[in-house]
Amino acid sequence: MGHVEGKVAVITGAGAGIGRATAALFAKNGAKVIVTDIKEAEGQETVEKIKADGGEALFLAHDVASEEHWQRVLAAAKDRFGGIDVLVNNAGIYIIAPLAETTLEQWNKLFSINVTGVFLGAKHVVPYFAERGGGSIINLSSVAGLLGAAGHACYGASKGAVRILTKDLAAELGAQNIRINSIHPTYVKTAMADYGAAIAGKTLEQMGRDMSVLGRLAEPEDVANVIVFLAADESHYLTGAEFVVDGGGGASVLSV
Ligand SMILES: NC(=O)c1ccc[n+]([C@@H]2O[C@H](COP(=O)([O-])OP(=O)(O)OC[C@H]3O[C@@H](n4cnc5c(N)ncnc54)[C@H](O)[C@@H]3O)[C@@H](O)[C@H]2O)c1
Repeated sequence: MGHVEGKVAVITGAGAGIGRATAALFAKNGAKVIVTDIKEAEGQETVEKIKADGGEALFLAHDVASEEHWQRVLAAAKDRFGGIDVLVNNAGIYIIAPLAETTLEQWNKLFSINVTGVFLGAKHVVPYFAERGGGSIINLSSVAGLLGAAGHACYGASKGAVRILTKDLAAELGAQNIRINSIHPTYVKTAMADYGAAIAGKTLEQMGRDMSVLGRLAEPEDVANVIVFLAADESHYLTGAEFVVDGGGGASVLSV
């Protein structure tokens, strides 16, 4: 997985799911973790679990759509741990709806979190990375940011934006030793997969069989492993790249 010991990592949306698993894995590997989430009780719980396991973590309430929140959160992270080395833009929301039923309000809200949140995080963390001589940003996109899917006009477009924003920033910031990569999971066993399965009228087991060649959905830890690697020194030549975490689902056409 690589070394992240002593690094300071800010992880958004870390009160649940992939963000929580990622925060725990960073801490287990000796990183200092800033857990942020719009839901305070859930974020605090992540921190308590990390501390109970002997790790170092701090919770900060954070709406990633707010520029003022980003400024406050990053300043507080530096105050507490002396600087910032890693940003995981994980917070996101998911809507499945036919085009005709997708409202402008839904579209704007989802984009404010899934896309504007990523832009603001990158914009405001770069000066902190510059103080440390570099850094790593890991953006959570999706396979829905690579290929189309019915009912995914809003969510898929947001994740496609994250994919290309990642490459634009990698091109712009590489000379400052700042790396930016995107992660593209299919369904991972979190509340988002529960929501998708309910709409599809399938169980998680059926979804795993249908969507991967390994026959199962990813656990949050499967994604966390890739995120921590992309923050580690061992991945120092990786930037602007997309990492598909789909159990091989995109590698195969329908089975006969
Ligand atoms: N789970 C999946 O199947 C899956 C697949 C592909 C991509 N992703 C992406 O991975 C990321 C994490 O997904 P997850 O499944 O762990 O989701 P989740 O719903 O389990 O957790 C998301 C967390 O983000 C927080 N959040 C929501 N809005 C926020 C805001 N405005 N500011 C700060 N925090 C906010 C929530 O409170 C929650 O704790 C998302 O970007 C998602 O789009 C997930």
